Amino acid sequence: MKFSIRSENPSTVKTGCVIVGVFERRKLSEAAGRLDRTSRGLLTQLLKDGELDGKPGQTLLVHFPRGAKCERILLVGCGKPGEFDARAYRKAVSCAMQAVQQSGAGDAVSFLAELDVQNGDLYHKVRSQVELSRSALYSPDELKSKADKKHPPRRLAISVPAAETETADRAMSDGEALAAGVELARKLGNLPGNICTPGYLAEQARELGKSDKRLKVSVLDTAAMTRLGMGALLSVARGSDEPAKLITLEYRGGKTGDKPVVLVGKGVTFDSGGISIKPAAAMDEMKFDMCGAASVLGTIKACVAMDLPLNVVGVIPATENLPGGRASKPGDIVTSLSGQTIEILNTDAEGRLILCDALTYSDRFNPDVVIDIATLTGACVIALGSHAAGLLSNDDTLAGELLDAGITAGDRAWHMPLWEDYQPQLDSNFADMANIGGREAGTITAACFLARFTRKYRWAHLDIAGVAWKGGKEKGATGRPVSLLTQFLLDRCNRP
Ligand code: BES
Ligand code: MN
Ligand code: ZN
Repeated sequence: MKFSIRSENPSTVKTGCVIVGVFERRKLSEAAGRLDRTSRGLLTQLLKDGELDGKPGQTLLVHFPRGAKCERILLVGCGKPGEFDARAYRKAVSCAMQAVQQSGAGDAVSFLAELDVQNGDLYHKVRSQVELSRSALYSPDELKSKADKKHPPRRLAISVPAAETETADRAMSDGEALAAGVELARKLGNLPGNICTPGYLAEQARELGKSDKRLKVSVLDTAAMTRLGMGALLSVARGSDEPAKLITLEYRGGKTGDKPVVLVGKGVTFDSGGISIKPAAAMDEMKFDMCGAASVLGTIKACVAMDLPLNVVGVIPATENLPGGRASKPGDIVTSLSGQTIEILNTDAEGRLILCDALTYSDRFNPDVVIDIATLTGACVIALGSHAAGLLSNDDTLAGELLDAGITAGDRAWHMPLWEDYQPQLDSNFADMANIGGREAGTITAACFLARFTRKYRWAHLDIAGVAWKGGKEKGATGRPVSLLTQFLLDRCNRP
């Protein structure tokens, strides 16, 4: 879909579909009101007839409205005007874009960015409209022999007040960059484990590296990781015939001396649990266990597309977790890159084993901050469901910045405690620590484990087990938290 910014009159614009908002109860937005007058009360009449009353997410398609120059009007319910915040706006936009796809219109002009959104400025209204419109068009049909039927409009124009087209243009290009990053994360996440292997992720990173001179990609193989002493990461790969990889992407958009933000993404391309094998039900969803890695690739793609004046490094430990004759066994003790020893009491707690070595490795980039992103614990799904990522950090300022970025981007996280009080749950009789901390506070003890490898720098951990993908009928990767991470990076740039 091609986007453009314009300043239009809803009554005179020639297009396949004009998209306008209607509030509860039957209150027309400014643009809808203009169309109503042009069509001599057609919209008022339809609302009176009970066709739509403005509840959030309702849509009504009106064909060949008299008086107007468009082929269709799409009315979108926006809820109560007093409750129309960024979240409600996003819902209205998403529903509108779903409906416009079904309408058969070849192009459309949206007036939704002209609505008053509480605490929402034009930049964010336009950017999220672009992001959500692209998102609504994506479906994971790459591996179907016949693609899903879609009739998206080829062009979407977003109408804004004439004085604000410059801001809107910037918002549009940021929105496209963001959407491209989210889409990459979704695509990779949705690929099955037999295609998206550690080697495949490495290839994708190399491919991304070719897109820009400022991006450098390197990949360590098993031999190189053995030489470095990454005993924890390699212990997870032992049960699989697929070789593990440590992928590094260095984006140098900032000044030479600027300390980078390092993003570390869990890349378990399939998590069977290993010898501590998982139950069969829904085990297919463990192909999504590389969504942290996918979000790092997606975020870097967005950074490059936005030309961000920052240095960002992505570090992706990638492996399968399978049972096999050489697989790690409960009770095995391994030595991590940091020198600390770990007793593997459960081979299904493999994410922290690969992350701890990647986090130790990250210190060589002299980071300003390190953020790891991981589908780490089922406990996080129990605690927060699918609405917020778990956020744990050794630095409250950094945590605050990430929380704010999540709110701004509509991709929220929730702060959980990382108190020393939980650390004793990881005590082991035989090694420096165990890799599990018992039934209580599973998300926190997983983060406590990682905290033992991040003492040298400011660090935050995002547990995305609940948000990275959806199950059920809408099964598929969401692309979260690419928006949060990209917003966090944008906020560090002080752009106009
Ligand atoms: N990848 C899983 C976490 C997961 C499970 C995410 C289910 C989403 C849904 C992770 O590797 C894992 O298996 N964690 C274990 C840890 C436990 C053994 C301490 C878990 O959460 O059960
Ligand atoms: Mn696991
Ligand atoms: Zn896992």
